[in-house]
Amino acid sequence: MNDPQPGVNALQLRAAIFLVLAVGRTDGELERTRTVCADVDKLVRAVGARDSAGGLSCVVAFGSDIWPAICGESRPAELHPFRELRSGPRFAPSTVGDLLLHVAAERMDLCFEVAAQIMRELGASVSRIDEVHGFRYFDDRDLIGFVDGTENPVGEARLAATLVGAEEPEFAGGSYVVVQKYLHDLPKWDGVAVEEQERIIGRTKLDDVELDEAVKPSFAHNALTTLVENGEELKILRHNMPFGDATGGDSGTYFIGYARSPRPIEQMLENMFVGRPEGNYDHLLDFTYPVTGTNFFAPSVQFLATLAEPRLAREEPPTDPQSQPSPRPGRSGSLAIGSLKGVPQHE
Ligand code: HEM
Repeated sequence: MNDPQPGVNALQLRAAIFLVLAVGRTDGELERTRTVCADVDKLVRAVGARDSAGGLSCVVAFGSDIWPAICGESRPAELHPFRELRSGPRFAPSTVGDLLLHVAAERMDLCFEVAAQIMRELGASVSRIDEVHGFRYFDDRDLIGFVDGTENPVGEARLAATLVGAEEPEFAGGSYVVVQKYLHDLPKWDGVAVEEQERIIGRTKLDDVELDEAVKPSFAHNALTTLVENGEELKILRHNMPFGDATGGDSGTYFIGYARSPRPIEQMLENMFVGRPEGNYDHLLDFTYPVTGTNFFAPSVQFLATLAEPRLAREEPPTDPQSQPSPRPGRSGSLAIGSLKGVPQHE
C-alpha cells in the first residue's frame, strides 16, 4: 500500500492554516505547481525540524477541475465538484478551488512559516481563493462551546475510514477531502439554554458525554451524522478547527472531512440539510451556515512524488518496450514484484 500524506491521519493539533487556491492554466503555471507540490514534504521537513515536537504537516490535495491538468487523465473515480444542497432556508453552496493546502502543527508559527514558504515557491502560478487560520479553543472545543472530534475513528479504524484501498489501486493511500467554511451566529446560539444546545448536538456540553438514545432527538447533529451500513458504522475523519475575528466579524468552524469515498460525507450533509427523514434536519443549521463547499483528493506520498517527473515521461510511456532500460514504477508505486523499492524518491 502506498503511504498516505502524514497530515491525513495526524492527531488533533493546536493550530492549522487552510489555503484554497486557484491554479493558472498556462503550461508554465501548471508545471511550477506540480514541481512545488511534489516538493512540499521537503519544505515541511526543513521547517518542522526547528521543533520536532511541533508535529508540522501539510496535506496537498487537488480539486476536480484541475486534476487532469496537474495529474493526468486518469482520475479518482469519485472526485467531482461539491454538490450544492438547498432545503428551505438551508443552503450548502458549491465553491471553486483547485489546490488545498491543509497545514497543521502544535504552533501557529510553524504553520505560518511553511505556508509562506510554499506560497513563495508557487509564486504567481496560483491565486488565493480562501485562507483560514484555525486555532484549538480550550479543550478541543468549537466556538459553540462543545468538544469537537470525540467520535473520530482511531487506530486501524481510522486508516480504514480515510484511505482508498484495493477498490482504486492507482489511487491507493489517497483520501477524498471535503471542506466547508461555516460562519456562526454566536449571539443567537448563546441565547439558547444549555440543555437545548445539548439536544441539538446530542452530547452534554461540559463533560462531552453522548446523550442517551431515549432522550436524544432524531434531529441531533450526532444522530444525523451517524451512518450505519450492513450493521457497521460508516466513519469519516474530521480535522475541524475554530477560526474567527474577535471584533465580531466572521467566526465559525472550518469543517474538513477525510474519507476513502466522498459518499458518507455527502450522505451526512444530505441528512443535515435536507433531513432524515426529509424535514428532520440538523438544528445546528439554525445557528450556522456554510459559505464555501469544495471537494478535493489528497493523493499518496508516492503519487505526489511523480508530479516532479517531466510530464511527457509520466503521460506517454515509450511504445517500444526494448527502449526501456528497466521497468518504471507505476502510480500505484508497484513494480509488480511486491516491493516498493525503486519508487523514485525525488530527493
Ligand atoms: C458548523 C459545523 C459543525 C460543527 C460546529 C460540528 C460540531 C460537532 C460536534 C460538537 C460533535 C460532537 C463531538 C464529536 O463526536 O466530534 C460533532 C460530531 C460529528 N460531526 Fe460535526 N460539526 C459540524 C459540521 C459537520 C459536518 C458538515 C459533518 C459531515 C458532513 C459533521 C460530521 C460529524 C460526525 C460524523 C460526528 C460524529 C457523530 C458520532 O459518531 O457520534 N459535522 N460535530
